[in-house]
Amino acid sequence: MKRVLITGGAGFLGSHLCDRFIKEGYHVIAMDNLITGDLRNIEHLFKLPNFEFYHHDVSKFVHVPGQLDYILHFASPASPIDYLKIPIQTLKVGSLGTHNLLGLARAKGARILVASTSEVYGDPLVHPQKEDYWGNVNPVGPRGVYDEAKRFQEAITMAYHTYHGVETRIIRIFNTYGPRMRLDDGRVLPAFIGQALRGEDLTCFGDGSQTRSFCYVDDLVEGIYRLLMSDYASPVNIGNPSEITIKQFGEEIIKLTGTQQKLIYKPLPQDDPKQRQPDITLAKKILGWEPKVSREEGLKITYEYFKKVVSEEKK
Ligand SMILES: NC(=O)c1ccc[n+]([C@@H]2O[C@H](COP(=O)([O-])OP(=O)(O)OC[C@H]3O[C@@H](n4cnc5c(N)ncnc54)[C@H](O)[C@@H]3O)[C@@H](O)[C@H]2O)c1
Repeated sequence: MKRVLITGGAGFLGSHLCDRFIKEGYHVIAMDNLITGDLRNIEHLFKLPNFEFYHHDVSKFVHVPGQLDYILHFASPASPIDYLKIPIQTLKVGSLGTHNLLGLARAKGARILVASTSEVYGDPLVHPQKEDYWGNVNPVGPRGVYDEAKRFQEAITMAYHTYHGVETRIIRIFNTYGPRMRLDDGRVLPAFIGQALRGEDLTCFGDGSQTRSFCYVDDLVEGIYRLLMSDYASPVNIGNPSEITIKQFGEEIIKLTGTQQKLIYKPLPQDDPKQRQPDITLAKKILGWEPKVSREEGLKITYEYFKKVVSEEKK
């Protein structure tokens, strides 16, 4: 049985990856320090003999006994609320954590895929964003702790590939959503749905003309799986190119939830990207991948999930 280590395994994306690799017949080792994750995301896996959980901070030395075939490094705070609250841990997990896992991959002869982000493009001056665009990042601004950690992560991953010959994969993930996101993680989608469920107005930062492109989690997981199994070591964008302004998106959420509330406007936070849309030509070409789930379909599933979470909290 092939063995895979998934860091950040109790988080939103990590837990979906645990499910996918269990389904593919792997022995899955999830590792997480639970700083932003939740054991409830993986508790359904605890009874399985081919699932293990290690409570561990990957910014410290990482030891896993036995063979490892693959490592997926997804440990990192990922939402602005989280990384502004824990900036040093964010820098450490992207740098020291990635270094530790690359060392582990080298020692075990494992292939490693690291989760990078569209934030490496910063507030992009090129639209849509292609992998060969180097970005527009403010290193000392509030978002610098996340963006620069991820840029360092890509650099050290590439160095381990070229210098030590480690088999590496780099995915640049664009905004992804779905069940197991936290309602309070500050990202626009859970924020809007949470406000609608609580009967509050929906807060739109700026005039709402900034754009985002939302990818449903199942599509992303398929892209990650295909990239891991490919032989492509340079960064690949995975995301849904269907772009929407935040104002239009708020209107979609109002319609979906049937709330009587309205959009209200607050000042845009510093360095908030104005446009975000992946160019996925490369993923289509080398992975034969493109998203399949429409926003309408994905939002319905996610809304049902959040409704359940809120009704359980009220009990
Ligand atoms: N969700 C998105 O839209 C998105 C977009 C781009 C990139 N990403 C990347 O994907 C990864 C997962 O993001 P997510 O949305 O699932 O976030 P998440 O916060 O739900 O999951 C991150 C997990 O990592 C764990 N973690 C953080 N620091 C750790 C450490 N030092 N040691 C061990 N575990 C640690 C957290 O406890 C959490 O369970 C991150 O690397 C993030 O940068 C996500």
